[in-house]
Order: sequence, then structure tokens, then C-alpha cells
Amino acid sequence: MRFFYTIIFVAITVNQATAQLNPYNYNNIKLSDDQKNIVVSAHALASDAGVQMLQLGGNAFDAAIATQLALAVVYPGAGNIGGGGFLVAHTAKGENIALDYREVAPASANKDMYLDDKGNPITLLSMQGHLASGVPGTVAGLFATLPYAKLPFTTLIAPAIKLAKEGFAVTAAQAADFNNSKAVFEKNNKQPVAFVKAIAWKAGDTLIQPQLAATLQRISDFGLKGFYEGTTATMIVNAMQKNNGIISLSDLKNYTVKKRVVMKFGYKGYDIVTMPLPSSGGIILQQLLKMTALKNLASKPFQSTASVQLITEAERLAFADRAEYLGDPDFVKVPVTTLVSDGYLKKRIANYTEGKPGKSSNTTAGIIKESEQTTHISIIDAAGNAVAVTTTLNDHFGSKTIIDGAGFIMNNEMDDFSVKPGVPNMYGAIGNDKNAIAPGKRMLSSMTPTIVLKNNQPFMVVGTPGGTTIPTSVFQTIVNVIDYKLSPQNAVNQPKFHHQWLPDVVYVENDYPQTTINNLTKMGYTVTVRGNIGRTELIVIDNKQKTVHAVADKRGDDDVRGY
Ligand code: DON
Repeated sequence: MRFFYTIIFVAITVNQATAQLNPYNYNNIKLSDDQKNIVVSAHALASDAGVQMLQLGGNAFDAAIATQLALAVVYPGAGNIGGGGFLVAHTAKGENIALDYREVAPASANKDMYLDDKGNPITLLSMQGHLASGVPGTVAGLFATLPYAKLPFTTLIAPAIKLAKEGFAVTAAQAADFNNSKAVFEKNNKQPVAFVKAIAWKAGDTLIQPQLAATLQRISDFGLKGFYEGTTATMIVNAMQKNNGIISLSDLKNYTVKKRVVMKFGYKGYDIVTMPLPSSGGIILQQLLKMTALKNLASKPFQSTASVQLITEAERLAFADRAEYLGDPDFVKVPVTTLVSDGYLKKRIANYTEGKPGKSSNTTAGIIKESEQTTHISIIDAAGNAVAVTTTLNDHFGSKTIIDGAGFIMNNEMDDFSVKPGVPNMYGAIGNDKNAIAPGKRMLSSMTPTIVLKNNQPFMVVGTPGGTTIPTSVFQTIVNVIDYKLSPQNAVNQPKFHHQWLPDVVYVENDYPQTTINNLTKMGYTVTVRGNIGRTELIVIDNKQKTVHAVADKRGDDDVRGY
């Protein structure tokens, strides 16, 4: 009898340890309270893949790897192996880590590659098709994360392989997404692709991706070489050669991840740990927090005309600097120390006057005397590790090209370079020679995976997609929690707004308070109502109150899971 009970107990334990969602029947969970092991991501099946690893004895890094791989299968618009990303982490031992696995320009790329004979930009070329892709960094990034993880890579990739091979039920949003993208997939791919079918997709339909499953299996079997060399690399290069692309075998073999020094700075008794260049995100976040603090943002009520105006003016200045000064620090000199210094920012915001709108046409970068689609994951584990990853194909479904035979979508990250000084990219961001294309160079990003520490312990893990709206959304989430004391749920779900110098427009989500919009308009601002800004995944750990709250953004299928 005793023996019988023991066996049952073991069976139940094993079953729980490997509990996994039914891929054909799952719901989204939006909030988690007081769990110690948490994964928040854009898709329930990806959050679940991460939690499976935590339950198998892995840590937050194991979960980050498994969740990214699962996203490449279940959230193909942004989750990826054909793109790139950034990881910011704070380990249980107190180390702060920044991994840069951003795409790079291929060796035969050049500054004028998206210009016609007359020097005019052919904008679609950097956005769609094989020539739009940078050399992917994600798979190398996952292997650079592995030394911090505990489980074998073969275990971490297993859920993704299973989901690709056996399929899963698509959500209503995904069905609509595939239907809307049908024409553009057909235009950019000669072969049949898994996301296109003759009759319209509907919620609950199964997506099976056998070619992607085989690619993931090669990565499982051969590690880095399963992607950057051998069969997969050959498939990538064949697709490039047939379609006017330029990524070569040596581009793939030479790709390297860069371990960066995190950008760390103090804010009202907290330490913000975030991504340095080649993301502009950390610099913009730091500039915004410091400039708005100088003008006492916290004293201006949440969503009031005065608070929106102050933030808008700070954003105008930060984005003017972005356009003028920022680029890949391994290629161009960027005056980072000055750009984030208290003295410089004090001068920058000095002209701000409440009630008086600035103008982008007469706002330039500061003078320094010195030589939709992305996705974010926030994770914590009970041991005290916190991981924030933002990863991207750039646009939704990247370059809209799927590597023939390998079944994965390639990025269109080349559009994040400045194709010509003053010509806006797909997010309206402008740049100059600092962000011009050069072989092996990383394109400037806005991705801002961020960890906020209190007494050297994780307090917030936060990040979002959204192109240039990323740093302004991360900024709003941080001040919503720290300055406005909103609940984590409200900090994420309350409507957001955005300004980026050019165009000279304040964008607001459609549920932004109308009185504030009216007041700003009366004052002289151009206010444009737009769709969703960001899909923020937030974890807040309050050691004083002994509470943990995690929030998956209401704006999508985002999901939080834990135990
Ligand atoms: O790195 C960047 O800043 C962009 N490629 C991010 C694109 C993005 O967030 C699209 N998401 N909606």
C-alpha cells in the first residue's frame, strides 16, 4: 500500500514538473500576484515554455532562452530566429549583464544601397524583401545566454520544436494578422509559406511549421553551427542569391554577440539598469527621467496637460539628440557621458516654460564640444535572477520573406539605419552619418529592456515593443510606478502618449483623456490619436511590502504565467 502511494506521488510530481498548456486550448492570463517564478511574454504558449524550464530546475536565463525560441514559433510576427535582440539581466549574485545580439549590416552593404541613381531613397527596399535583412543575431544571442542558464540547450529548445512540428491553435488576433498579411507574403515569397492558406484563417485553426521544426532541430543537434553554418546557412544564402539579397556564408559565420556594459544610473533612490548603445533606448530613458525630474514632473498630476506637456518637451529634445549623435559605438564616436550628464540636461531643459509649446522646426540637438514588430519578455525566478529581453524582426513579420526550406522569417532591420541623412525610417526616425550603413555595423535601435533595482535587488522588470515609442513607453511605465504610484496594472494599461521631435506631433492612444487633448490642442500642439502604443510586460517586486505583481499588457494576447 505504501509503495502504491509513493508511486502515485512521484507520478503527480513528474506530471506537475512538466505541466504544459494544451496548445489547442489555452487562455491568456493577464495578472499574477505573489508568484516567485514568473514569465511575461506576448503569447501564452511562450510564457508556458519558460515556466516549464523553471519547473524543471532552470533559472530565469533558461526561461528566457526557451521563451524566445517558443515565440519564434507561436508569435512569428516578432518572435524570431531571423532577427536580433538585447538582453539586460541582474543575477542573483548581483551582476548586471547586457548582451547585444543586434543584427549587423552584411559585408557587402554600403551607405547608398537603398538610393537610386539620383540619390533618392527607394524606401521599400530597406523594408521588404531579402535586401532588407541584416545578419541575424538571435540564435547567437541565445547561445551567449546559455552560460548563465542551468539546463542543456536541447531541453530549452524542445518545447519550440514540438510546437512547430505538432502545431498549435492560433488566436483571433493572429488569424486576422495572417489574413491581413497574405498579399504581402505572396508578393515577397515565390514558395508556399506556412502563414498563407487558400481560405481565411480563423481563431482556433492549427498552424504547423515543419520546415521551422527541422531548422530548430538542426540548432538543437549542432548548436550555433546548426544555424550559422551547414544546411541552414546554405538555405539562407541560396534564398539571398535568388532574390537580390546580399547576406553571405561568411557574414553568417562571422556574426558575434557583444557583451556590453549596462547603462546604470540613479533615479529617486532606485538604480535603473538598461541597454546602452547600439540602442538609443537607455540614453533616451536616462535623458527623459533626468530632464522631467529637474522640472518636478511628480508635482504635475498624472495625465494632466502640464505633465504631458513637460514630457513632450523633454522627448522633443531627447529625439533631436538621438538623430544627431547616436549610432553604433564601435563605428562612430558618441558623446554618451555628456548626453546624460546633469549639467548638459539642465541646460537642455532650461527653456521649458509651462503652457508654451516648443517647435521641432527650431529645436536642434544640443551643442556638445567633444570629439511594430518587436516583442518583450520579463522574467524573474525565486533565486533572485531578473531577465529583460526585447527581440525583433523590426517590422511586423520583418522583411516578409521566409527562408525557403528553413521556414523562418527574416528581419528588415536594415531600415533602422539612416538610409540617407534626414530621410525618416519606417518609425519616422531621422539620422545622419552616425547611423549610416557600413559593413559589419549595427543599426541604431530603440529597444529598452530595463531592470529597476532598489537596494541592489530587482524592483521592476520592464520592456515593450513599439519602435521609437519604446523608450517613451518604458519611461512612462517607470514614472507611473515610482512617481505616480499607480498599481502595476494601471501603469501598463492606462493610455500612453508619444512625441519624437519629428514629426512635430503628440501621438495619444485613443482612450487618452479628452480634456488633456483639448488643452494641448488649444495651447498649439498638434495632437493625433493613434492605435496602441506598446505592449508592456511588467513585473514589480516590492520587498518592503513583500508583494510581487506581474502584468501582461491588455493591448494584445500577452500572457503571464508563474508559480
Ligand atoms: O530596434 C528597434 O528600435 C526597432 N527595430 C524596433 C521595432 C519595433 O519595436 C516594432 N514593434 N512594434
